[in-house]
Amino acid sequence: MNNLLKVITKDGSMSLRSEKFNENFHSIVGAYHETKNKFINPSRLKRFQNKSINVLDICFGIGYNSALLFENLIIELSTLNWYGLEIDKRPLNYALTDKEFNKLWNPKVVEILNCLNLRGLYKNKNFDCDLIIGDARKEVLNLPKEINFDLIFLDGFSPQKCPEIWSYEFLSKLKNKIKYEGYLITYTSSAAVRKSLKDLGFNLFNIIPTNSKQTRWSNGTLATFNKQQNNPHITKLSGMEIEHLDTKASIPYRDPTGEMSSKEILEIRRKEQEFSNLLDTNLWRKKWEMA
Ligand SMILES: C[S@@+](CC[C@H](N)C(=O)[O-])C[C@H]1O[C@@H](n2cnc3c(N)ncnc32)[C@H](O)[C@@H]1O
Repeated sequence: MNNLLKVITKDGSMSLRSEKFNENFHSIVGAYHETKNKFINPSRLKRFQNKSINVLDICFGIGYNSALLFENLIIELSTLNWYGLEIDKRPLNYALTDKEFNKLWNPKVVEILNCLNLRGLYKNKNFDCDLIIGDARKEVLNLPKEINFDLIFLDGFSPQKCPEIWSYEFLSKLKNKIKYEGYLITYTSSAAVRKSLKDLGFNLFNIIPTNSKQTRWSNGTLATFNKQQNNPHITKLSGMEIEHLDTKASIPYRDPTGEMSSKEILEIRRKEQEFSNLLDTNLWRKKWEMA
């Protein structure tokens, strides 16, 4: 496929690599593994057993996060109102031609994904799903005014590769679409993204790494307005993580018009970092003995 190459990750699940962004869609540890541990487990979907839930999946891609979400919510007999935002139709289209990808899911989930791929929507008694193809920065403004989300998954390419969906301005639009007790979940622990979320009034939690042998200090970030959390998959930010938010790495990505190119966004931030008095991020790394 032009610009998109198939990748088999270490848990055997398929993923893609984008030549345009020069990045894989998932961690090489495992596409399925990443979805389960970074997005679905921290969502605590059992809370929605026999209840209704509104979900926004930004950068839907191949659709792993939502496929596993659908699978769990079918079991929980939940009523789902779902929107997916994605700029490129091809990843899902390609994945559905892959036998092993189809085998990962319950046939009902494959039916939903096929409908989303062909028609951009799926509706039955319990599920009402719309996949919107376009730039998430614009499409987020076209979501129905009356809907606020219980869960927002934010799964774009890394901030240095795709800064447009991590800007302070884009995150502030998400703030307006989330419920007080809603969760915004992302795999990134980028200081710039965390600082923007903090400045927008969110409380930040670290998603606990699942593998004890893992050298990573974080599996991502869960942001919510509700301070009190009873969620075994998250912890408060450590001292090291809090200090990270005082370094130059915390300078936000800015995109005031919502139309800037990634090159422009990165250049503005680079200049702001150059003239900033904040702590050099390398000194922070040294202090905490990071490579
Ligand atoms: C890391 S991949 C997503 C992984 C995904 N959640 C999955 O399960 O495959 C990032 C996705 O963001 C999409 N993307 C990039 N820029 C976007 C934008 N401005 N608006 C919406 N989607 C965008 C890419 O097309 C790609 O599918």
